[in-house]
Order: sequence, then structure tokens, then C-alpha cells
Amino acid sequence: MSGLSSPKKLALNAAFIIICIGILIFLLRAPKETTSPLPHDDIHNRFHAMKGKKEAEQYCLDCHGPEKEAPLPADHPPKYRCLFCHKRQ
Ligand code: HEC
Ligand code: HEC
Repeated sequence: MSGLSSPKKLALNAAFIIICIGILIFLLRAPKETTSPLPHDDIHNRFHAMKGKKEAEQYCLDCHGPEKEAPLPADHPPKYRCLFCHKRQ
């Protein structure tokens, strides 16, 4: 970094910090505000009661798989671990 004059260094550092804050805000806000939690209803209550996430996730695609009663939307993101995104709250 010895070749840079210090105002330029300062500007680069400031830009770096602003980008980091932007990414942080994006990561903290995006999942929370857009992804619906696991519903509390007669269908889903038994999955709230299960201890392990993996244990509960085995059953999701029985209804949310393609051709089933509540298929996922076509633009659904990768879906390996349902409960990492659809939180149990
Ligand atoms: C017995 C069938 C069945 C199973 C098993 C099932 N679901 Fe559902 N799910 C439904 C139906 C039907 C709906 C739509 C009606 C409703 O919201 O209850 C739904 C709705 C949802 C919604 C949308 C809620 C909203 O706000 O729109 C999410 C998220 C969801 N399920 C996640 C899961 C996850 C994760 C699992 C596995 C742990 C799971 N479901 C297992 C039938 C099922
Ligand atoms: C990488 C994160 C992620 C994973 C993993 C994931 N989902 Fe989703 N899911 C989403 C997002 C984002 C949406 C659309 C926005 C929303 O939830 O409102 C969505 C939408 C849905 C919907 C439509 C109802 C709604 O809330 O709009 C259902 C039902 C659903 N997901 C069930 C599941 C099931 C079942 C699994 C596991 C097989 C799963 N999801 C895995 C992120 C995820």
C-alpha cells in the first residue's frame, strides 16, 4: 500500500467499510423479512414438537413435493433444508 497517497487510502478504506455494512444489512434483513416461518396449524404442529430439524424435514415433501397437495412455487430457492429458512418460531 506504500504507493498510495493517504487520501486515496482513506477513500478505499471508507468504500470497503460501506460495502461491508451493506452486505451485513442485506444478510440480516433479507431472510427475516421475506421467508415465512413454519405455520402453527393442525398440519404443521407436529413438526414444531419434533426435536431434530432433520427428523421433521423428512416429511415436508410428502405434501410440498411436485404433484402433491401444496407444491412449492416454481421459483422456489434450493430446498435441501426446509427449516433453515422456514424457521420454527
Ligand atoms: C400433511 C401435508 C403437509 C406436510 C407434511 C407439510 N406441510 Fe407445509 N403446508 C401444507 C399445506 C396444505 C399448506 C398450505 C395451507 C397452510 O398454510 O397451512 C402448507 C403451508 C406451508 C408453508 C407456507 C406458510 C405461509 O405462510 O404461506 C410453509 C412455509 C410450509 N408449509 C412449510 C412446511 C415444512 C418446512 C414442512 C416440513 C417440516 C411442511 N410444511 C410439511 C401441508 C403440509
Ligand atoms: C434457502 C432457503 C429456503 C429453503 C431451504 C426452503 N425454502 Fe421454502 N421458501 C423460501 C423462500 C425465500 C420462499 C418465498 C418467499 C416466502 O416464503 O414468502 C419460499 C416459499 C415456500 C413456500 C410457499 C409459501 C410461501 O410462504 O410463500 C412453501 C410451501 C415452502 N417454501 C416450503 C418449503 C419446504 C417444504 C422446504 C424444504 C423441502 C423449503 N421450503 C425449503 C426459502 C427456502
